[in-house]
Amino acid sequence: MAVSAATAASNFLRPLYRIEFPKCPHLSSESQFRLQLLRSHQTQRTTIRATSAAVVVESDLTTQHDLNTQVDLFACPICYEPLIRKGPVGFNLSAIYRSGFKCKRCQKAYTSKDGYLDLTVTSGLRDYTEVQPVRTELFRSPLVSFLYERGWRQNFRQSGFPGPEEEFKMAQEYFEPAKGGLIIDVSCGSGLFSRKFANSGTYSGVVALDFSENMLRQCNDFIKKDDTLSSTNIALVRADVSRLPFASGSVDAVHAGAALHCWPSPSNAVAEITRVLRSGGVFVGTTFLRYTSSTPWILRPFRERTSQGYGFLKEEEIKDLCTSCGLTNYSCKIQNSFIMFTAQKP
Ligand SMILES: C[S@@+](CC[C@H](N)C(=O)[O-])C[C@H]1O[C@@H](n2cnc3c(N)ncnc32)[C@H](O)[C@@H]1O
Repeated sequence: MAVSAATAASNFLRPLYRIEFPKCPHLSSESQFRLQLLRSHQTQRTTIRATSAAVVVESDLTTQHDLNTQVDLFACPICYEPLIRKGPVGFNLSAIYRSGFKCKRCQKAYTSKDGYLDLTVTSGLRDYTEVQPVRTELFRSPLVSFLYERGWRQNFRQSGFPGPEEEFKMAQEYFEPAKGGLIIDVSCGSGLFSRKFANSGTYSGVVALDFSENMLRQCNDFIKKDDTLSSTNIALVRADVSRLPFASGSVDAVHAGAALHCWPSPSNAVAEITRVLRSGGVFVGTTFLRYTSSTPWILRPFRERTSQGYGFLKEEEIKDLCTSCGLTNYSCKIQNSFIMFTAQKP
């Protein structure tokens, strides 16, 4: 499989196709283009036309029956141009794993490894290694990733988290306007919610996205164990929340469970989520609050000091972040230190 992905990637270097990107590649949810990508069971082997997005790929490639070259849903994390994909069609783990992706502008190829597609800027680098803040690095550890759904997450109940079933139901209510669209589960961890979104049948596609390689490996293992999931519209992507590999306005919903406090820069992350959401698209997040209105005044200075290192924010800070990035219709539900908040792209 790794060999076929590498071969597909190297084949990109042959200048056999012509690509025209629109001056302003704004891909709305109504776009025929995305529907074509997500459903893509048709085998158009030589010409793919995306009507509303005005993206045209014409290929002279003589392809095998199941191979295709197309402009993809995923975009380059460096320049945000949609990537060119070569490989089997379809938005599922196996088809994506066997495909190679390339940015025509940056001449950078992206391939899959260990079951996930690596769309970080550092993907494929040989000498440079980047170390993220502790709260990001912690979840890259194999042990933490293994323990996450085997006890670690359950501990969140003590802080007021209602538990995955209830959190999923609450999120689904907020995501009502995004039904039938593409949802990105940002910082999905081992895919606790990505799997629920995929199983719900509510969305045309689910992207389980995280920065941690080991969390994504766990996610892949959980999906493989669930027969109903292996053939559904789900993709596993490694990416940084501050550099999301999607074109502007191309996503219907973004979920970020228990994640905001782990991000190196919540403001960059919320700005980036706002960029990728389409008009009317919905963002739902949960996190731990630094303190709530019921926290006794005497404890607040202590909470200020101890919580800052973990990135826990106050409710008004979360609202400020969302509205300063241009999101509207902010609302939230709070239970002890747990907050679920939502906001919409105007
Ligand atoms: C506490 S887990 C949340 C997992 C899951 N969403 C849930 O609700 O249980 C936080 C996740 O944020 C991810 N994360 C941390 N920094 C990130 C970044 N810069 N970009 C994307 N994900 C990041 C971690 O790898 C980790 O999987």
